[in-house]
Amino acid sequence: MLELLDNQRTFHIQVKHTSLVLHVLPTGHVTIVYWGKRLESKSLAYVIQDIGRASYISDTDGIKDFKLEQLPQAMPTFGNSDLRTPALELEYTDGSRITNLRYKEFKVYSGKEHLPGLPTITSAEGVETVEILLEDCVQQLIVKLVFSAFYDYDAITQSIVVTNLSEKNVTIEKVVSSTIDFLEADYDVCYLSGAWGREAHRQVRPLSQGTFLLDSKRGASGHGQNPFIALADKQANENNGFIYSMNMVYSGNFQAIAEVDMHQNTRMQIGINPFDFAWQLAPQHSFYTPETVLIYSDQGYNQLSSTYHRFYRECLMKSSHAEKVRPVLINNWEATYFDFDKAKLLSLAKEAADCGMELFVLDDGWFGNRADTTTSLGDWRPNHQKLGGSLSELIEEIQQLGLQFGLWVEPEMVSPNSDLYRAHPDWIIQVVGRKPQLARNQYVLDLANPAVQDYLISELSALLEKEKIAYIKWDMNRNITDSGSNCLAAAKQKELSHRYVLGLYHVLEALTEKFPEVLFESCAGGGGRYDPGMLYYMPQTWTSDDTDAIERLPIQSGTSLIYPPISMGCHVSAVPNHQVGRITSMDTRGIVAMQGNLGYELDLTQLTAEEKQLVKEQVAHYKEIREIVQLGQLIRLTEVENQNQYAWLYRSKDATSFLVSFVQVLAKANTVPKRLKLTGLDDKAYYQVGERICSGSELMNIGLKLEKPTADYAGQQWLIKKVN
Ligand code: DGJ
Repeated sequence: MLELLDNQRTFHIQVKHTSLVLHVLPTGHVTIVYWGKRLESKSLAYVIQDIGRASYISDTDGIKDFKLEQLPQAMPTFGNSDLRTPALELEYTDGSRITNLRYKEFKVYSGKEHLPGLPTITSAEGVETVEILLEDCVQQLIVKLVFSAFYDYDAITQSIVVTNLSEKNVTIEKVVSSTIDFLEADYDVCYLSGAWGREAHRQVRPLSQGTFLLDSKRGASGHGQNPFIALADKQANENNGFIYSMNMVYSGNFQAIAEVDMHQNTRMQIGINPFDFAWQLAPQHSFYTPETVLIYSDQGYNQLSSTYHRFYRECLMKSSHAEKVRPVLINNWEATYFDFDKAKLLSLAKEAADCGMELFVLDDGWFGNRADTTTSLGDWRPNHQKLGGSLSELIEEIQQLGLQFGLWVEPEMVSPNSDLYRAHPDWIIQVVGRKPQLARNQYVLDLANPAVQDYLISELSALLEKEKIAYIKWDMNRNITDSGSNCLAAAKQKELSHRYVLGLYHVLEALTEKFPEVLFESCAGGGGRYDPGMLYYMPQTWTSDDTDAIERLPIQSGTSLIYPPISMGCHVSAVPNHQVGRITSMDTRGIVAMQGNLGYELDLTQLTAEEKQLVKEQVAHYKEIREIVQLGQLIRLTEVENQNQYAWLYRSKDATSFLVSFVQVLAKANTVPKRLKLTGLDDKAYYQVGERICSGSELMNIGLKLEKPTADYAGQQWLIKKVN
C-alpha cells in the first residue's frame, strides 16, 4: 500500500508488517525516514528535521548546517556534501563527474512494469508501484527510483532507471539497485560466503567504522559471495531480533557494502559491481538496474527466510513447476562420471526405477567426443557410439522403465577441440592479440554477441524439439577471465560483464517461454550462480558439488536463509564421499538430502541388498513428505553458532504435518542427550509422535527425545501429525 503524506512529499510504502518511508526535503533531496516494523503514523518529516549536524563538510545550497552526509539519503551522488560511498557515479563528455539530483515528480500505479531484458518479479496480485523522479538540470539527466509494494508478501522491490535527456553520451561508472541509510551503526552484518564445494556458509560479523564490502568479479554471482546482505540487531537469532536485508535479482558481478561513517550512521547498498564496469548511455536512452528485494524481519532469521521463501516460490519463479512437487531423480555423474555406455546407464536406470525414483538425469559426456573435460563443449549432438544408438532410443528405453528423462548441458562454454570453436573462434570472450586462458579446458562463449545468443537458442531448441526431455541441468563451470568482446566497440568493452548476463537472460527467456513444461535446474559447479536471477528462469539449483552429508549441513542451512527448500537440489551419494572421503550412514545421508529436493547420485548397482532396501524406503517416505518440505514452511531449530548440531523442521501449509530432522556431527563422550524443543506448533493442539500423543505446548517446551549418539554423524527424523 502506498500512502502519500505531508502534502505528497512523504512516501509511505507499507506492506503487511513493514514500512519504508521516504521524504523529500524542501531542497528536493530524497531521504529515508524509516525502514522497519510497520507504522501507522501520518506525519514523519520531523524525523529528518530533528537530526543534529556537526561536520567539516560544506553546507548544501548555502543553507547553514545543511549537510547531506548527515542525512539518510535515498540516492546519494558524488560531488555534494555527502562524501560517503555514492550510489551513482557518472562521467560526462566535458570530463565532469558531479551529479546533483533533485526531486521532480512522482507517479503511483497498480502493478509493476517489466524491466527490459531483466528478470522482474511481477506475478502477484495487488502490487503497487511508486516512481520517484529526480533530475539533474545541468546535465539533463533523469533518475527514477522505482519501489513496488507486494503487500501480502511483506516484500518491497526496488530498481533504478537512469535516463539521458541530453544530446551527448553519458558514461555510467556505477549505479546501484538499492541504497539505504540508517541513523545507527550498532549492527551485525550477515552474508553468505564460501567457495566451490562449500558455498553459502552464513556469516555474522559486527560492523565498525569503515566499509564492509562483499562482491563478485567472476562473471557470475559466484561461489564466494551471494548477492545478499543484511544488517541485524546484535541479539538477533533464529526467532528473535530485527534484520534488514537486500537480495539482488541478478546473476553477474555484484557489489554490496555496509559503510559505517564517522557519525555512526550506516549505509547499505547493493548493485552491479562497479569494478570493470562502465556503460555508454546514449542520448534518449535509459539504463535499468536489476531489481533488489528488500525484506525486513522483526522475528529473527526464521521469519526472514519464510518471507523470502514464499515470495520466491509464489512470485519470483516463473516456471510452471514453481509450485509443483519435484520428481525424485537419479543423476549418473558421481555414479559413472564420463565412464558410461548404454548398458551401464540402463542398469542404473533400472535400479532407480526399482527404488521408486522418477527422473533419470544423464549428466556430462553424452555428446560430441566427450570422454573427459578436454573436448566437445559446444557440439550438442549425441554421441551414438557411446550411447549405443540414438539419444531418442535411449530416452525411449528409460521411459519404458517408468522414468522421465533429463539431460545435462553447459551451453555457455566451448572446448577448443570442438566443431563450434573451429567454426567460430571469434565467439569466445578474449582480448585479440592475447592468448585466451583455459579453465577446465574450456573457453566462455561471448553471450554479449547476438549471434551467439541466436545460435544457442536454435541449437537447444532443436534438441528439445527432437527429444522427449523433461528436465535440463544447465551447468556453467568456470569464471570469466580475459574480459574482452569481439562484438563490442572499444568504448563499450566495460559493458561486457553486464551484457553477458543480459545475453544469458535473453537465451533463458526464449527457451523457458518456448518449453514451459521442461523443468530447468541451474548449476555452476554446484551453487556458483545460486541467485534470484537464475531462479526466475530455473526453479531449482544444484546446491553444491560437495555431496557429503556433513559438509552439506552448513551449505544447505546457509542457502535456506534466502532460497526456498524446493529450489535446493540435495543428493544422496556414495561413501566414502567423493569430495571429502567421509563415511556417513545411509540414514543420515537421506535425512540431510530430504532437507530440499531429494535425488540420488551414486552407482545404485553397487548397493548391498540392505542398502537398496533403505533407499527404497527413503524414496517412498520422501514421496509422502515432500509436499511438506517443498511447499511448507522451514523453521531452523538450532542456532548457527552451534556447529555440532543441526535441527530443522518443516510445517505443512495447513499446519497439520511436521517433519523434524536432527543431525549431530561429532559424538561426545560422557554427555547426557538433551531434548529438542520444537517451534511453530499450536500449543493447544495434540500431535501424534510415534506411539505417543503429545500437546503442542509439550513439544515446544519439553521437546523430543534425542538419542545418545553412539557414533559420529548420527541423525534422527520424526514425522508429527496433528490429531483431532
Ligand atoms: C559440475 C556440476 O556441478 C556437476 O554436478 C557435474 O554436472 C559436472 N559439472 C559435469 O561436468
